[in-house]
Amino acid sequence: MQTKNILGIDVGASGIKGAIVDLEKGELINERIKLSTPKPATPDAVATVITELVQKTGYEGDLIGCGFPSIVKHGVAYSAANIDEAWIGTNIETLVTGVTGKQTFAINDADAAGLSEMRFGKGKGQKGTVLLITIGSGLGSALFIDGRMVPNSEFGHLFLQGWVAEHYVSNTARKKYDMTWEGFGKRFNEYLLHIDRIMSPDLVILGGGISNEFKEFGKHIDKRLNVTTAAMFNQAGIIGAALYAYEAKFGEL
Ligand code: BGC
Repeated sequence: MQTKNILGIDVGASGIKGAIVDLEKGELINERIKLSTPKPATPDAVATVITELVQKTGYEGDLIGCGFPSIVKHGVAYSAANIDEAWIGTNIETLVTGVTGKQTFAINDADAAGLSEMRFGKGKGQKGTVLLITIGSGLGSALFIDGRMVPNSEFGHLFLQGWVAEHYVSNTARKKYDMTWEGFGKRFNEYLLHIDRIMSPDLVILGGGISNEFKEFGKHIDKRLNVTTAAMFNQAGIIGAALYAYEAKFGEL
């Protein structure tokens, strides 16, 4: 029988995280390992860190799912807002498969987190339009309609008040402009109202490290919006990447 324990990796602007995921339960089997993202985060440098990460997890399987912070189409990176520009045009799957010897499937990091939340978390069984937004170095998004993903939605790159949204209201922007939680919450509310105006999601799920602080900034979000935090916080990206790889290779879990 095919094992459902798959290694999920989440490449981020500051850390590269990974763990073996039990896809029957939607849980990590071992402790999450986090290594620093190299600077500059060129394809070769990141591939070296991924190789080290795979070794550290002790993973003996032959399939890897990799969440990556850019538009990803057929394994190739098409943007690089928070990673080295040399990634544009790089086939992530070929590169990671080459250095690890394990077949790798790549997906946008927010899409990975969204898959995980839809399957195991707050999006489970949700019909209609569900939008997951990850708040981190950038703003990632994952869009689902009746449970089916529309990949590479990139709502962090909407324009808001003349800014690219993720420059206005990500965690990086919060630190850069020294925002209070109230200031951040108000900006984030503007962002959500803008999204609501253009696509009226039935549910918005917030993920990424900063969603832990929702109790601080959530007070400033309009009560008419249906907003919740991700069940798996920052593990969703790892779990979703593993799920994506499994289903890309074997079909629905
Ligand atoms: C990228 C997205 C990514 C998000 C979160 C954005 O800058 O354009 O592809 O999902 O950051 O990492």
